[in-house]
Amino acid sequence: MPAATDVPAVPDYQSGFGNHFTSEALPGAVARLQNSPQRHPLGLYAEQLSGTAFTVPRSEARRTWMYRILPSAAHGRFELLKRQLRGQEDGPADPNRLRWRPLPMPSESVDLLDGLVAMARTAPAAQAEGVTVYLYAANRSMDRAFFDADGEWLLVPQQGRLRIITELGVLEAAPWQIVLLPRGLKFRIELPDGSARGYLCENHGSPLRLPDLGPIGSNGLASPRDFLAPCAWFEDCQQPMQLVQKFMGQLWATELDHSPFDVVGWHGNLVPYLYDLRRFNTLGTVSFDHPDPSIFTVLTSPGSVTGQANVDFVIFPPRWMVAEHTFRPPWFHRNLMNEFMGLIEGVYDAKADGFLPGGASLHNRMSAHGPDNATVQVAMAAHLQPHKIDGTLAFMFETGQVLRPTGEALQCPQRQMDYDRCWEGMARTFKPEAAS
Ligand SMILES: [Fe+2]
Repeated sequence: MPAATDVPAVPDYQSGFGNHFTSEALPGAVARLQNSPQRHPLGLYAEQLSGTAFTVPRSEARRTWMYRILPSAAHGRFELLKRQLRGQEDGPADPNRLRWRPLPMPSESVDLLDGLVAMARTAPAAQAEGVTVYLYAANRSMDRAFFDADGEWLLVPQQGRLRIITELGVLEAAPWQIVLLPRGLKFRIELPDGSARGYLCENHGSPLRLPDLGPIGSNGLASPRDFLAPCAWFEDCQQPMQLVQKFMGQLWATELDHSPFDVVGWHGNLVPYLYDLRRFNTLGTVSFDHPDPSIFTVLTSPGSVTGQANVDFVIFPPRWMVAEHTFRPPWFHRNLMNEFMGLIEGVYDAKADGFLPGGASLHNRMSAHGPDNATVQVAMAAHLQPHKIDGTLAFMFETGQVLRPTGEALQCPQRQMDYDRCWEGMARTFKPEAAS
């Protein structure tokens, strides 16, 4: 029987976003003819995890049946944890453009949960819509299990791999990959490289899904088959383990006398996913001008206003730039949507410097922004040839509601107080004499 240390070095996966999977670590673990038999042949307990209300349209419904050694209900009282997440207090609403350097690696021993710093949120966890955006920096594997009752997790590693042991199996993600962890799913995160840094979008609203493709057609952008779900894996372990949950913004903990990763088989469509962003089929102009950046949407959580997402996850991956007689960097803009950006690697094509891998920026509703002065000068002087933007990956959590920075984000030493200066000294190139 596997022990707690027998986590597979190379996880097994199955493919397809939105599939109804069936996975067994032992033959016969998943009930064949019904979900909840009177007596399971292997002596397992059946338990359903629902990620959506029972009565949503069938196309929206997400749930998974688990067949486990002990039901999740076998626990004592949860007590409020003394150590809470950093950045729980909202700062004053601030219309300024904000930017931060990367978090340093912690000087003390910190697991990913304690290494989270909330940077901004659109709404409290109590609301059915909204997100909280975090940075993380950690240097210790979790020796406790966790689940988030407040929302699903979209993890974007920037440095260091994450090995994620979940109730449904094991996933491993490196930079340039992302992981989705459904609301309520128990997991713990190990750090195979000893440390890790990255970004987290905690989505309190509708589960993230693939965007509609409209006139693009039936292919393009992220393909469902590139999303990988784990295969069943379990440990039959009766050593004590702390189980932490995040509930209405606060961490609560209870002590288990067994491992919660005891699901021997499962079936359903509420599952964690691994996705490699290099698999994204990037589309763009082959004539002139830019499509809107929504062309780079990997995943979307719809909001209550049609077409206005609760959050879109958008990437700016390597791609050819071929637009003729076009200002090729991202244009200057003022948008309704709100943009929290991060950088995995390289240099983002709108900023010559200052926006660093592991760093972040926040441009809220109607804030004026775009390429910095240095980028503008180069772009306007360029002799346009086909050019590949390579070796870089930036991304955006784009929200329909304003992302209010936390007090921690506004006060932390990583904040770049001189961010506005990247638009200083813009040349006046107006030539009224050129008017015909
Ligand atoms: Fe923007």
